Amino acid sequence: MIGIFDSGLGGLTAVEELRKAMPEADFVYFGDTARIPYGTRTVETIRAYALQDCRFLMSQGVTSILIACGTVSTNALDVIRSTFPVPVVGVVEGAAKKAAEIASKGKGRVLVLGTPATVKSGAFEKELRKNGCDGVMSIACPMFVPLAENGYTTVKHIAAVEIAREYLAPAVDFCPDAVILGCTHYPLLSEVISHFLPDSVLVSSGAEAVAELKKSLTSRGALCGGGKGKYYVSDGLEGFAESARRFLQTPVTDVTAIDINSY
Ligand code: DGL
Repeated sequence: MIGIFDSGLGGLTAVEELRKAMPEADFVYFGDTARIPYGTRTVETIRAYALQDCRFLMSQGVTSILIACGTVSTNALDVIRSTFPVPVVGVVEGAAKKAAEIASKGKGRVLVLGTPATVKSGAFEKELRKNGCDGVMSIACPMFVPLAENGYTTVKHIAAVEIAREYLAPAVDFCPDAVILGCTHYPLLSEVISHFLPDSVLVSSGAEAVAELKKSLTSRGALCGGGKGKYYVSDGLEGFAESARRFLQTPVTDVTAIDINSY
């Protein structure tokens, strides 16, 4: 069983990909809705929250962990990998590889969009350089998270368009070949981001992580199950069920509230 977690519903962009790529996989999803956002917190707090989230997933018997959160992947992957005895996949490596590949066929330019903690970590830049890409611009877009959580996600939403205009202004002249959506909430705003960067390919970090996890599970012969998903949140059970239903376009009934502070 796969354990997936995020600070809120952004990780559902990875769940959506997971259900397409591995429909047979059973999974447990945890959204830390009581403590969102993670992306504006200190590294110490992000690491402490991430360890609690993983302890909860381990208590559910998961045999691999997908960190469906850019903030945690860029700030706590090492401590999660060294603490838990299961394979752990974050969202950095796959997305950087894909974006570098796209850039190598173009002008060699990649734009990284992420939370302040993700941008501050420099983790995507480091991974892009490893993949031979030096033309990197990074922009922190913290207000994209509440926009996504509240469903302000299309070009019809003036607030979303105006916030994106301000955040993305420096990137318009940079004209990137690829844009890494380094926060798993951001694919929800794809329409708005593409409105300002119509010639750039958007790379969903969650989707690339799912592809990486699939490879790892397949190579170990560990891809099995009945396609069951269970959802847990630390607050706001009904709001999450409604948002998840809207987002995944299928009823999400199996949602349970837990006290994450007890893990
Ligand atoms: N979805 C999370 C990420 O990928 C972060 C949102 C937040 O909690 O700030 O970074």
